[in-house]
Amino acid sequence: MTEPAVLVIFGATGNLARNKLLPALYRLEAGGHLAAATRILGIGRRPWSDEDWRGEVRRGLEGRLGGSLDAEVLARLAERLRFQSGDLEEDDAYAALAGRLHDGALPANRLFYLAIPPNHYGTVADRLAAQGLAEEAAGWSRLVVEKPFGFDLESAQVLDERLRRSFREEQIFRIDHYLGKSTVQNVLVFRFANLMLEPLWNRHHIDHIQILHAETGGIDERAGYYDEVGALRDMVQSHLLQLLTLVAMEPPPSCDAEALRDEKVKVLRSIRPIARQAVPAHAVRAQYRAGEGEGAKVGGYLDEPGVAQDSVTETYAALKLYIDNWRWRNVPFYLRTGKRLRETNSLVAIRFKHPPQQLFRATAIERLEPNWLLINIQPRECLRIELQTKQPGLEMRTRTERLDASTCLGAADQINAYEALLLDVISGDHSLFLRADEVHWAWRIVDPVIRRWASERDFIHTYPAGSWGPREAARLFDRDDQDWRNGLDG
Ligand code: BG6
Repeated sequence: MTEPAVLVIFGATGNLARNKLLPALYRLEAGGHLAAATRILGIGRRPWSDEDWRGEVRRGLEGRLGGSLDAEVLARLAERLRFQSGDLEEDDAYAALAGRLHDGALPANRLFYLAIPPNHYGTVADRLAAQGLAEEAAGWSRLVVEKPFGFDLESAQVLDERLRRSFREEQIFRIDHYLGKSTVQNVLVFRFANLMLEPLWNRHHIDHIQILHAETGGIDERAGYYDEVGALRDMVQSHLLQLLTLVAMEPPPSCDAEALRDEKVKVLRSIRPIARQAVPAHAVRAQYRAGEGEGAKVGGYLDEPGVAQDSVTETYAALKLYIDNWRWRNVPFYLRTGKRLRETNSLVAIRFKHPPQQLFRATAIERLEPNWLLINIQPRECLRIELQTKQPGLEMRTRTERLDASTCLGAADQINAYEALLLDVISGDHSLFLRADEVHWAWRIVDPVIRRWASERDFIHTYPAGSWGPREAARLFDRDDQDWRNGLDG
């Protein structure tokens, strides 16, 4: 059970609140994780009453969770919901909010969740502070900000300075919801709770590592956000680089937040900078054109409502990175993401080197398949090792055997990443949140690519919706025997 708190959600009627935060709060309610006095105060522009919002939340949850919804849990959650109508740009909204938070009816601990476009973060933080809401007198006050945190290194630094005029670093929780996913956390457990892998986890044994986030979905109604941002900022700078740090980091001295984040920063700092002229050899961008999506014919990115007709925003990005340290020097890390790809799947795929001697070359085995270690994050949580064994029979032929962890078998009882992260904010644990320097180092890595792409505004490769992306992405590989690994089965 957590401490009582009031969760103030800015952007309560938006996409993120509807699709992620409220389902997570419903699950927390169902699991009995919220203190009896905890309240959820939605802030939005619509002129709604508490009852209107409750109805809207109920309908949203019914749409998402359907038959599995428990009426009693829903009623308990609805009891906690309050709504306040207000415009983020108007001082009155903050004065009214302060009045409500100070009147003693709500818990003294306050969590301000900014589920709003990033250009409002600074204003909201300033105005909360102007009303004394950043002060921690009777209880704590915490600010949760979503990615993208800034637009590039410089804007991230400016935003940080601004937030820190009102809130101390300990009060700021920069969320990367990927870190709340259980298989992502499993990367650390898998690596550091087993001795077996450690001797192999380095440049002597690993050929390369791929990190993939693929989605069949398009951009929904998010053109306003997405067309400005693109796949590199939306997924690679944040989620995929975070995954890379977990795969590549050294064992931290302890599991506390600072120790973990120090190790992640060391990885980011060791990534070889990409020189402007080297961008084409390290990065590929593309945009989906008409094709298939989720079983139907779909239009291309330029047909999405709200997307500029001459947009060269990438919906696909692939990046090759090197980490210049003793463990990883010259092992390529391939990061890849895309909308409207053939399948929805997120995966870390580690390919091992071939044995030093091709002992079986003279037999029927022409070419040995490499060993792979696969950590599938979603939709199926799975840990798999692929090994070569001999096929039964007289001939010396090999086949690939798969050693699956038991988690691969059933549909996983997936927790919504936001459940874990909301609980962490309430209990003040920063381990799964990003420190300012971590965000800055991540920007430093992608900034040269962003700058070069921004200067090339008249052409972008395309790929048909429902494919695995543009053919040009294969140019990132150093050798012909390397190829993309898209899922557990190929
Ligand atoms: C978000 C991105 O951070 O992550 C989205 O803005 C993306 O574009 C989403 O679809 C993917 O996360 P998940 O948890 O839905 O796989």
